[in-house]
Amino acid sequence: MTQKNIAIIRNVTDLRQTIAKWRAEGHSIGLVPTMGALHAGHLSLVTKMLGQTDKVIASIFVNPKQFGAGEDLDRYPKNEDADCKMLSETGAHAVFIPDCASIYPEGFSTNITVAGLSDDLCGKARPGHFDGVSTIVTKLLVQAMPDVAIFGEKDFQQLAVIKRLQQDLDLPTKIISGAIVREDDGLALSSRNAYLTADERKIAALLSATLKQAVARANAGEDLRVIEAESTLYLLKAGFKAVDYFSFVDANTLKQVNDLSGQTRVLVAAHLGKTRLIDNFAV
Ligand code: PAJ
Repeated sequence: MTQKNIAIIRNVTDLRQTIAKWRAEGHSIGLVPTMGALHAGHLSLVTKMLGQTDKVIASIFVNPKQFGAGEDLDRYPKNEDADCKMLSETGAHAVFIPDCASIYPEGFSTNITVAGLSDDLCGKARPGHFDGVSTIVTKLLVQAMPDVAIFGEKDFQQLAVIKRLQQDLDLPTKIISGAIVREDDGLALSSRNAYLTADERKIAALLSATLKQAVARANAGEDLRVIEAESTLYLLKAGFKAVDYFSFVDANTLKQVNDLSGQTRVLVAAHLGKTRLIDNFAV
């Protein structure tokens, strides 16, 4: 089936057939994995991939394995028609939309764990989340065997986990990353921003503002632990219900750092009403 000039593919057999045909014609293949409810952040990854490979496939799959009990799996926004239209207008060549039974058929028993990188930060707040991400991303990479796959810096820990698993499993796909796309007031675009009430939406902008200020303070030589503690307190006072972490970490190991001697990133996860938001900046 096609919508305008984008092919809509719903099973692995068709995916592999499409890719085999493109490969026979000499084309290179790029994959952009998503969970749908697409926004300009997702589309920026498609656009970047169009500059890297001849054919670009986006995937849309709301992966139940990466949602914990009581998380937002049931209410995760879905809008397949709008997603396909946006992908088509952006220039993607195909969209892979498998159903859950074909991804996780009866008896599915394999789990991919990237130890270490998955354990802290979001891994601590969302046990099992990165196993779910690692398992689905490994499946998608094996199903499509793309030359390049792209992931956003918005999910910085996810990006680190995926780079690790690609290396560890010798997957023949180059992993590249895309910069965070933001609203005018700095809020990182996220499918979950749709959950925010009007009042929460105003407060949400403080997340990136606080990170930015934390970067400036760190560069001015202030103690990183003091910045983390004060930033956390500020967000709580501003209306965030809980802050899972506000941490200066090494950009490669994701271990907390005490100074800026290496490549440093400051990462935050905080709850606003019923919505969990994450963001990060390079220091
Ligand atoms: P999803 O949240 O839909 O995001 C898909 C991709 O878009 C991810 O690589 C994410 O980092 C990137 N992205 C999200 N918001 C962005 C923004 N504001 N700017 C730039 N890129 C952004 O991440 C997932 O889905 C899933 O975990 C997935 C990798 C598809 C596995 O299920």
